[in-house]
Amino acid sequence: MATHILTRAARFGAVIALALFGLSASAPAQEELQEEQAHEALHFPIEAPERRSWSFDGFFGKFDPAQLRRGLQVYRDVCQNCHALSMVPFRTLADEGGPQFTPEQAAEIAGAYTVTDGPDDQGLMFTRQARLSDHFPSIFANPQAAAFANNGAYPPDLSLMAKARSVPSGFPWFIFDALRFYQEGGPDYIAGFLTGYRDPPPGEEPPPGTYYNVHFGADDETAMPPQLFDGIVRYTDGAPQTVEQYAEDVAAFLMWTAEPHLVARKRLGFQVLIFLAAFIGLMYATKRRVWAPVH
Ligand code: HEC
Repeated sequence: MATHILTRAARFGAVIALALFGLSASAPAQEELQEEQAHEALHFPIEAPERRSWSFDGFFGKFDPAQLRRGLQVYRDVCQNCHALSMVPFRTLADEGGPQFTPEQAAEIAGAYTVTDGPDDQGLMFTRQARLSDHFPSIFANPQAAAFANNGAYPPDLSLMAKARSVPSGFPWFIFDALRFYQEGGPDYIAGFLTGYRDPPPGEEPPPGTYYNVHFGADDETAMPPQLFDGIVRYTDGAPQTVEQYAEDVAAFLMWTAEPHLVARKRLGFQVLIFLAAFIGLMYATKRRVWAPVH
């Protein structure tokens, strides 16, 4: 017992000594330390996802309806086998600024789903074809069932995922991000996560049921198996059928589900700025006029 305490004290002493001498440590050691701190700030255990360019970034950014439609196709063909999109009503598929389906096309998409409704006159729940007013149904009855089907890992609802995740750049770069209105961290992360699967480094075997992913924000490996492979979704608009393209399309689509009014918000922001510029001019002219006799 006494020796145990002694070893602990020695270890503690060594840590303090190292910390004290840390300042005068050699340059490579400092670099290593800085790198570690940078990772800590980013919360990416291995590698932060790269930043991509999106049709909806910047001041005048807009969603590309063709990309959103392809993203929906990827969601329906692949992701919906596990993930729900429970906050998205089918009717919004026909909204301005979104994938811009016609109301008939949106109704057709809804019609492919079955939802539970009720209770009927006898107090019983029943299933029926989904309508425009319904939301995307989950294929699992409840989160427990979804987790059970995925080795105990719950596949989260994707409706707001693009707002729930981001690629923070840490101090001081976040100031520049704010100045250039960087708001695409969510889709950058989703596209990075989907394309982040690699062979694990030699000797590092992921635990059973997990997969090595360099861009996962929480750990070295994720419980979600790789989902995208070249050619897995058939596009009809001639876009490349590659993992990269699928990942970006579904990430853009999820940005739209998370923020369907992004285009309207940017337009309004711009109008407000024009108004304020005109207002400043007007106020300046008024001030000169009012003060003219005094000058
Ligand atoms: C076979 C089931 C399955 C399919 C299909 C699937 N996922 Fe997942 N997904 C999961 C599970 C399970 C998790 C939880 C992973 C974890 O916590 O390690 C997850 C987590 C995620 C996350 C959250 C990661 C994080 O940072 O927490 C995103 C984003 C995601 N999936 C996107 C997608 C997209 C987009 C698709 C379609 C291309 C897809 N998933 C298809 C099972 C699936």
